[in-house]
Amino acid sequence: MLARSQLITAVLSGFLALLFPDQTLALPKGAQQLGSQDLYQTFKDGKVITCGRILSEWRSGIMVGFDKALFLSRADKIKDLKKKSRTAAEPKLSKLLSQLKKQRSLQRIENPICVEGSPTSTPTPTPTPGGGCVNFDAFGNVTAAGITAFQIPSNLAANINTGTTVWQANCTGCHSANLNRTFVAVKQAFQAEPQMSFALSISDADLAQIIAYLNRNNC
Ligand code: HEC
Repeated sequence: MLARSQLITAVLSGFLALLFPDQTLALPKGAQQLGSQDLYQTFKDGKVITCGRILSEWRSGIMVGFDKALFLSRADKIKDLKKKSRTAAEPKLSKLLSQLKKQRSLQRIENPICVEGSPTSTPTPTPTPGGGCVNFDAFGNVTAAGITAFQIPSNLAANINTGTTVWQANCTGCHSANLNRTFVAVKQAFQAEPQMSFALSISDADLAQIIAYLNRNNC
């Protein structure tokens, strides 16, 4: 029986390999897997800017893979859009051209930051290896979906790494981490529990970070 199921598995994976000869085919051209030392994120106007080091040069870009830190530089993205728009017909063409325009303006804003910057902190590795985490990105930043799920005010950003530090500075000593609590629930606890009235002075920005930490396994 074992041999037979092994055979079936082998045939199946051979078949899959025929269908998808190279898994990276599905990725945008130019996407690269970068190590954490070659990636950093910074913020501007509330937006996350991702920088990756390709051939010893820092470039702005986007993350296109969750569990592997796959990075696509804006330059490659622009190249790709240009190439596609050369052969595209309307209405796809105008869509591609507007995407191109957007990517170019983002590149203008982000490039100086990526060139000047250097990683201020080591990015957090994927909170749940294997992907599929909708509430965090590969750096431990809470995504838009996470912001909603954890009831964090939408103008705030939060990250597991920062949250760990804020939690350790304010919340240890009395009880262990109250996992999976929302922003709203913790705020209510601060009001309801006399021993925690001290925490009412914690800013919403810091509380958002604490919420990222408390929900770090909440994908
Ligand atoms: C001075 C001690 C103390 C500190 C420090 C403290 N807490 Fe509490 N906390 C309590 C007590 C006492 C309760 C009520 C009893 C309980 O639920 O454990 C409580 C309850 C809670 C609750 C409600 C119960 C639950 O599990 O949902 C949350 C949420 C909470 N704390 C979060 C925090 C956070 C976040 C921090 C850091 C800002 C913090 N606590 C720091 C003493 C403290």
